[in-house]
Amino acid sequence: MAATILDGKTLARKIQNETKESVAEFVDQQQVTPTLAAVLVGEDPASQVYVRNKERACKRVGIDSQLHRMPESSTTDELLAKVDSLNQDSAVHGILVQLPLPNGIDARRILDAVSPDKDVDAFHPGNVGLISQGRPRFLPCTPHGIVQMLARNQISTDGKRVVVLGRSDIVGKPMAMMLAGRDCGLGSSVANATVTVCHSRTQNLAELTAAADVLIAAIGQPKFVTAAMVKPGATVIDVGINRTDEGLVGDVDFHAVLPVAGYLTPVPGGVGPLTVTMLLENTLLAARIQTGCQID
Ligand code: GUN
Repeated sequence: MAATILDGKTLARKIQNETKESVAEFVDQQQVTPTLAAVLVGEDPASQVYVRNKERACKRVGIDSQLHRMPESSTTDELLAKVDSLNQDSAVHGILVQLPLPNGIDARRILDAVSPDKDVDAFHPGNVGLISQGRPRFLPCTPHGIVQMLARNQISTDGKRVVVLGRSDIVGKPMAMMLAGRDCGLGSSVANATVTVCHSRTQNLAELTAAADVLIAAIGQPKFVTAAMVKPGATVIDVGINRTDEGLVGDVDFHAVLPVAGYLTPVPGGVGPLTVTMLLENTLLAARIQTGCQID
């Protein structure tokens, strides 16, 4: 039997409707509109698309968004000054510095400079540390979206084998920490996994992936995951967004894996729409933190 396709677009719309209600309630109580500031350096076409999508999504749920464009030739110091002014601006609750930054800019210094209370990407080492200790402030958007997708489809990872393909700071590492922990905030059923992180130096990779109950592919290699690498009935989450001659493809060979997996996310329309949705949630949380609201 073919896998059930996990529709991220429909789920994202549903969660955004929930966020919209929460934003309206917050605005009503606090007389403050949650505001996200995105910083876009240079002209990278993919980044322009992402930032536009984020702006549109903010509008849909009643969050104000600001776009701060800076030239490709900007220096690290100029960017640090921009981040500092946004940190100081009490009308800005969330700050997002769009990656990748142009060569020559010290990305680590920039991301470290974002106030941890405004760090809606959860890239600041303080926020990463809180995740690793099982008491997150913000959850990074893509892993958060994946956990939402699992939880809302009643797919449990409790006691299961999860393989994360990729060890990036944005997806692989935080994903592994969240699923290996006791509860990242969405309940014990989407935590408590036995997690293996695989990467470019992993030996006998297919053997490891074929033992996974849940396989999360985040390595940025088109159609890397083949049918032979998937356990029959497994849940396969495809985080890849690869631009190829045949269009946008994921890290999973979708048509080959479809007859083997139990659940499978498509690309596009899988994890992607949830990532931006979780950014909205994080911006509302940032506004709550900065207005001294009770965090539930
Ligand atoms: N570029 C690709 N993914 C991301 C992300 O999650 N956050 C930011 N800021 N930039 C990105």
